[in-house]
Amino acid sequence: MQDLEYKGGPSIEEVRDRVEADHIYKLSSNENALGPSPKVLEAIQKTASTLHLYPPREDDSLREHIAAYHGKGLTRDHIYTGNSGSEVVELLNRAFAQPGDEVIVSSPTFGLYKRLAGKLGLTLVDVPLDPDTFEYNIPAILNEVTDRTRLVYVCNPNNPTATLLLKPAMEALLDGLPERVIVVADEVYYQFVEDSDYPDSIQSVLDNRNLIVVHSFSKTFSMAGLRLGYGIARPDLVKAVRHFRCPFHLNALANAAGHAALDDEQHVSDTLSMVQQGKTYLMGEFDRMGIPYWPSHTNFIMFKPEMPADELIEGVLKRGVMVRPTNRNGYDGGVRVTIGLPEENRAFIQALEHVYQR
Ligand SMILES: Cc1ncc(COP(=O)(O)O)c(C=O)c1O
Repeated sequence: MQDLEYKGGPSIEEVRDRVEADHIYKLSSNENALGPSPKVLEAIQKTASTLHLYPPREDDSLREHIAAYHGKGLTRDHIYTGNSGSEVVELLNRAFAQPGDEVIVSSPTFGLYKRLAGKLGLTLVDVPLDPDTFEYNIPAILNEVTDRTRLVYVCNPNNPTATLLLKPAMEALLDGLPERVIVVADEVYYQFVEDSDYPDSIQSVLDNRNLIVVHSFSKTFSMAGLRLGYGIARPDLVKAVRHFRCPFHLNALANAAGHAALDDEQHVSDTLSMVQQGKTYLMGEFDRMGIPYWPSHTNFIMFKPEMPADELIEGVLKRGVMVRPTNRNGYDGGVRVTIGLPEENRAFIQALEHVYQR
């Protein structure tokens, strides 16, 4: 099992001393550089004057709004909220896994899963992705299931590889698992996916499968600083998770901003176009420079430089662009770059060219 330690990426302030450029572009944490919707900013301003009051006691209206946003017959009883997608994952771990239980991950993947397992005394079982295609090995996962297995993580699209698990694989997984095991479908990047074979996880929830879908307002909605996320699952699973929430668990700003974000379709489509254009540009530049990368189904790309990843990362950082190594996710030698605004993408390519020419 490789080291999947997860700390979250550094802030701009933390790296400033290592940068020689005037401006720092942060392409290291898969944020949305478009910034939040103007409707979100307006809702926050409006709510700010009421901050002396506790927020609504329950998150019912936001849960109703989220259910209506997805449609398909979801109700608020299928939704729970948390202070970020990360907390949504933590809450379900607390609800469904006890110390000594096993959780299955497939590395390279999002490091939070390992960190939570360590924190909660769970045993992490790694069934690695295919080393070339990064496909999940469903028969191997099913083979690792024991009486202690509680959760199987499917990060889809996967961070850091930007690859997908498709419908047939999800069906095989759900069909093959015993009743007590829950699949965690971490789909925080789902809006970026265009593949028609992407699993319909909400339908699986409505079909009463053992599946919890994880969503976040950090990515497409560009609200990473606010910390808001939600889970979608069968009402009995949602009830078990909600037991672990704190009183007044959602702050008033996040609550108001969440409603506003769901109402701004234009902001989402602007984000998707920005990412699509940036992806085409970056892939073209990688091709031109002969740098291998993996086709991306999300708002970041993983590539493999010839030189050691740390050397490349320091080199581009010096020129003002922050990108992320993938070794902590379980993939040595890779680098992950977030797709940003056109000027950010260009700055990254210029920095990359500079490092390559040295
Ligand atoms: C796959 C995946 N899941 C969950 C999260 C958590 O997002 P947040 O805690 O910002 O909602 C991230 C953040 O990068 C992620 O990449």
